[in-house]
Amino acid sequence: MRDAQPQVIQRKDYRPPAFLIERTELGFELHEDHALVNACLHLRRNPEGEPDAALELHGQELELLSLSLDGRELAPGEYQLSAERLVVEAVPESFQLRSQVRIRPQDNTALDGLYKSRAMFCTQCEAEGFRKITWYLDRPDVMAEFHVSIEADQGRYPVLLSNGNPLAPEPLGNGRHRARWHDPFPKPAYLFALVAGDLRHIEDKFRTASGRDVTLRIYVEEKDLDKCDHAMLSLQQSMRWDEEVYGREYDLDVFHIVAVDDFNMGAMENKGLNIFNSSCVLCSPEITTDAGFERVQSIVAHEYFHNWSGNRVTCRDWFQLSLKEGFTVFRDEAFSADMGSATVKRVEEVNTLRSAQFAEDAGPMSHPVRPDSFVEISNFYTATIYQKGAEVVRMIHTLLGPERFRQGSDLYFERHDGQAVTCEDFVLAMEEASGMDLTQFRRWYSQAGTPRLSARGEYDADAQRYTLSLRQSTPPTPGQPDKEPLMIPVALGLLGAAGNLPLRLTEEAPDTETADNTHRVLVLAEAEQTFCFEGVMEAPVPALLRGFSAPVRIEYDYSSADLCALMSREEDGFVRWDAAQQLALRVLDAAQEQLAAGAPVEVDPLYLDACGELLADTALDPAMVAEMLRLPGEGYLAELAASRGGADVDAIHAARNAVRTALAQRHAAAFQDCYQRLASSEPYAPDSAQIGARSLRNTCLDYLALAGDEGLELAAAQFADAGNMSDRLAALQALAYHGSAAQRDATLEWFYQDWQHETLVVNQWLQVQATLPAADTLERVQRLLQHPAFDSRNPNKLRALIGAFCSANPVNFHRADGAGYRFLADRIEELDARNPQIAARLLTPLTKWRNYRGREQLMRAQLQRLAALPNVSRDVYEVLDKALAS
Ligand code: TRP
Ligand code: ZN
Repeated sequence: MRDAQPQVIQRKDYRPPAFLIERTELGFELHEDHALVNACLHLRRNPEGEPDAALELHGQELELLSLSLDGRELAPGEYQLSAERLVVEAVPESFQLRSQVRIRPQDNTALDGLYKSRAMFCTQCEAEGFRKITWYLDRPDVMAEFHVSIEADQGRYPVLLSNGNPLAPEPLGNGRHRARWHDPFPKPAYLFALVAGDLRHIEDKFRTASGRDVTLRIYVEEKDLDKCDHAMLSLQQSMRWDEEVYGREYDLDVFHIVAVDDFNMGAMENKGLNIFNSSCVLCSPEITTDAGFERVQSIVAHEYFHNWSGNRVTCRDWFQLSLKEGFTVFRDEAFSADMGSATVKRVEEVNTLRSAQFAEDAGPMSHPVRPDSFVEISNFYTATIYQKGAEVVRMIHTLLGPERFRQGSDLYFERHDGQAVTCEDFVLAMEEASGMDLTQFRRWYSQAGTPRLSARGEYDADAQRYTLSLRQSTPPTPGQPDKEPLMIPVALGLLGAAGNLPLRLTEEAPDTETADNTHRVLVLAEAEQTFCFEGVMEAPVPALLRGFSAPVRIEYDYSSADLCALMSREEDGFVRWDAAQQLALRVLDAAQEQLAAGAPVEVDPLYLDACGELLADTALDPAMVAEMLRLPGEGYLAELAASRGGADVDAIHAARNAVRTALAQRHAAAFQDCYQRLASSEPYAPDSAQIGARSLRNTCLDYLALAGDEGLELAAAQFADAGNMSDRLAALQALAYHGSAAQRDATLEWFYQDWQHETLVVNQWLQVQATLPAADTLERVQRLLQHPAFDSRNPNKLRALIGAFCSANPVNFHRADGAGYRFLADRIEELDARNPQIAARLLTPLTKWRNYRGREQLMRAQLQRLAALPNVSRDVYEVLDKALAS
C-alpha cells in the first residue's frame, strides 16, 4: 500500500497550542513559474500551552530560502526541517520569525493552497492548505491579525485581492504593481485568501442596520459579467436576513466574491473574500436551471452566514467542524425557506438527507456529527457533518422554540466572539439561555448511525383514548457497537375524518387551551415510552414526525387507506409528501415481486387514483404536486434494499420503470391537461411561483415522453422553443432518456453545437450523457473522456461525467461484467496523484460494496487493487482502509 501508515488523529489528543501568533505579515511575489512568500510571524508562548515546548510549524512542499529569528539568520543546525515540520528548539517568550519560501502554484494540481485556475491565481486554505503557502501554525485555534502585500505583473494581474480592507495600491515600475490588505479581525489561517487576475466586477452597496455602508463586489472573467446579478441580490438578501433573524451585522468596509472555474468544493467563506466555484455563483436564465438559481442563492447565503458562524466564532479543532457547518447549513436552510416555499425546501432537504446521509451513516465511513478520529480531515466534509449537523441544530430549535433559541444564539455569539470554540460551547450557550437540560441531547453529537423510531397506536373507543407507543434504537456503527437512547423531538398531529383532532395528553388539565391544539412536540427520551391522548372522539391516523422533526427512520404500520388519507388531508406538507413516498415504496416492492415471479406489473389502483387526484387538484402548490409524483430515486431504493438483504439494481430499475410507465399511461390525459394548463408566457423569473409551475410542468413532460410518441413530440417542441435553461434541459432529458437512439443523439449534438461556448452548460450536457439508461453508456462515457469538452483537471467536469456515472446511474455503474467498477478504479488511480481530495470523494460509490447482491466480490476486488498501489494519498488511503475493513 504505502511506505508509511498514515497517522490517525484523535480528538482526545487535543492540546492547546504552545505558541500563539498575534500578527502575521505576508508578502507575495507572483511570477510565471514560481511565487515567493515572505512571512513575518509575531509569536509568543501560550500561557495555556505546554511550557518549554519547542516551536513546531506546519509546512508542505515548501522550498525554504531563508529563516531568521528577531532579525538574526538561523544556521541550519539551529532548526530541524522534515517533510512536513519545521522545529526550532530554543526560542524566547515572544519573538518574530521571518521566513522566505519558494512555491510553485502553476504546478499545484491538487487545488489546495495557492494555485492557478486558468489565468488567475487563487487560494483554498480550508482545512489545511495554508501550510502549502508558508511555514505556520496551521490550526484553527491560532488566530492572527493579517497584513498582506501582493506583488505581480500589472498587465496580467490588474486585480490583487486579499481579506479585510484595502490600503492604497502602489505601482512599482517594470510593469509590476503591489496591493496591500489589512484584516483587523484575528483569524485562523484556513480563512486566508488571495486572488490575482484579470478580472471584471459588478458593484453594489449594502447599508447595515446601524447605518454603515459596505461596498459589495463580485469579480469574474469579462465574459461572465452578465451572470452576476442573481448572486448580488442573494448577497443583499442574506445580509438583511442575518440582521433581522439573528441580529448579526457585517463588519468590514468591503465584501468580495470571486468566481473561479477550478475548485474542489462549492465555495469558501474566507473573511471578506469569499471564493466560489463558478458553478455556484454565475447565473442567467439562458444557461442556468431553476435548481441552479436556488443553489446559487443558498450557497451565497451559506458563505455569507459563515462570517458569524465560522469566522467571528470559529472552531477550536477540526473535530468541531459541524459547529460551523451544521449551524451554517441550518441558517441557510431557514433563509431559503423564508425566500421561497418552505415546505418544498423541507422535502428537498429530507430527500438529500435520506439518500446521502442515511447511506453514509449505514456504511463504512459512518461517523458522529463530532467525530472522534480521522486520518485526513478533507474526507470529513460530509453529509453527516453538514446535513445531519444541521438537523441536530434544528432539533435544538424545535425543543427550545424560536425565542429561546435566539437568546441562545445571541449568548453564543456574544460570549465567544473572536474565539475558537467547541460544539460543547454551543450547547452550553443554548442550555444557559433557555434553562433547558440538554445532557442527554448531547448524544446526538457523539453517537453515529441513523436511529429507528417505531410507533404503534391503539384506540380505545369507549374511553375515547388514543395510546401512542414509541420505541427507538440505533444500529451499531464502526467503533460503536452499543448505543444509548437519544432525546428525540417527535412533532405530531392526529388526523380524523374531518381534519386534525385537538390533542390533550392524560396528565394535562381538560381545560388546557393552547393556540394550536392540533399540534404537539413529544419528547422521547427513553428506549420506549407511551403517550396517552384523552378526549379523542374517533380512531385517528397519526401524522408522525411533522416537518421531519428528527433525523430518524420512522416506522409505522399504516394501511394504504391511512396513507391516502394523510396524502390528501393532513395539514403538514412534509407528512403528506412522506405518505406519498411510503405508498410508492409499497407499490415498487409489489412491482419488484411481480417481475421476479414473471408476472405483469399491476399497480395498486389506490396509488394510481391518489396520483390522479393530485394532478387534478389546482388548489395545491404545483411544486408539492411535482414532489409527490416523483418516485423515490434508485439510489435511495438500493440503500433501503441493502438493509433487507442486498440490492439488485436491475430489479429496482425495472420495477421503478414499470410503475412510472403505469402512471404515465393511466394518467396520460391528466398529464397533458396539466402540461397545457401550466404553460406560461411570462418573462422568466426564478421566483417560487414560476419555479413550482415549471417543476410540475416538466414532471408532466417526463411522464408524457415515457408514455410514447405524442409526449416525445411535445418534448421536441419544447426543446426547440424553450426560453430558459430549465425548460430546455428538461426537454433534452426527456428526449435523451425516453426517445429513440437517433433522436437522442441528434438532440445531444444540437444542444452541444448551441452551448459549447458555455462551460457550465457543457457540464450539464456531460451529466445527461453520464446518466443515460442505455446499455452502452459506459462506452459513451469513455469516449467523452477524450472529447474537447472534457478536462480531467477540472473538478466540475470530473463530477459531471465520472461522478454522475458512478453515483447516479446505478444500472450502468453496477454492470454485471464489473466494467463500471474497473472504470472508476482506473480513474481514481490516475487522479489520486493529481488531486487526492477529488479522488477520495469520487471513490465513495465503491465503498458501498456490501450493499449490492452478487457484486460484492467485483467491487471489493477494485478496492483491493487500489489499496495495493504504492503511494496512494492519505485521502484515498483512509477511504480504502475503512471500506475494506467493513
Ligand atoms: N467551508 C466550505 C463551506 O462549506 C467548504 C470548503 C470549501 C472546503 N472548499 C473546501 C472544504 C476545500 C474542504 C476543502 O462553505
Ligand atoms: Zn460551510
